[in-house]
Amino acid sequence: RDEAPMLFNGEQLGDGSQPQVDIAVDPIDGTTLTSLGRPGAISVIALSERGTMFNPGPCVYMEKIAVGPAAADVIDLNAPVKANLEAVAKALGEKVRDVTAVVLDRPRHEALIAEIREAGARIRLIPDGDIAGAISVAWRNSGTDVLFGIGGTPEGVTAACALKCLGGTIHGRLYAREDAERRLALDQGYDLDVVLTLDDLVTG
Ligand code: FBP
Repeated sequence: RDEAPMLFNGEQLGDGSQPQVDIAVDPIDGTTLTSLGRPGAISVIALSERGTMFNPGPCVYMEKIAVGPAAADVIDLNAPVKANLEAVAKALGEKVRDVTAVVLDRPRHEALIAEIREAGARIRLIPDGDIAGAISVAWRNSGTDVLFGIGGTPEGVTAACALKCLGGTIHGRLYAREDAERRLALDQGYDLDVVLTLDDLVTG
């Protein structure tokens, strides 16, 4: 497309020749960061075998928890934040006080941030860019161990592709901003209660 440097959900690209793939592209994740000359924005593109990437649908946001390889088997989006922090700490062979949670700095995360603090873990609040935030937890010596919070759904799918390559994981649950969005998602067959695992987000 000449007029738009990105793909819309469901948009077709190419002449149909093999191999067919799913593509997720975000030319800038961290538009505001870039406009302010701040670090942390990234350009991302993910490809997987055709039909293997989750279609984000009408829900713009998704609740997320992401970790690196060592803690990939211990997270549970249905469990309290404290329980997840304890499980991650154990998997890393550390104390909860040594675990750093990365969270988008948003008013909607006030209760989440309070829970993390109460559990005694460290917090890295990021102004934007939860793809980079999610990738960082699977990156040795990045200083972060687990990502929590509500961020973009396409960003969640893209992060899932990266985490799959890195041996980490991300689980998510679609989050409707309002009743109309909830109804639209339900009408389209989306389940807003189910936990989407890494393989639900990308099976490729
Ligand atoms: P954009 O660069 O598209 O603005 O996305 C930045 C971002 O921080 C994402 O990384 C994140 O998933 C989403 O926005 C969070 O949305 P919101 O800013 O509405 O809380």
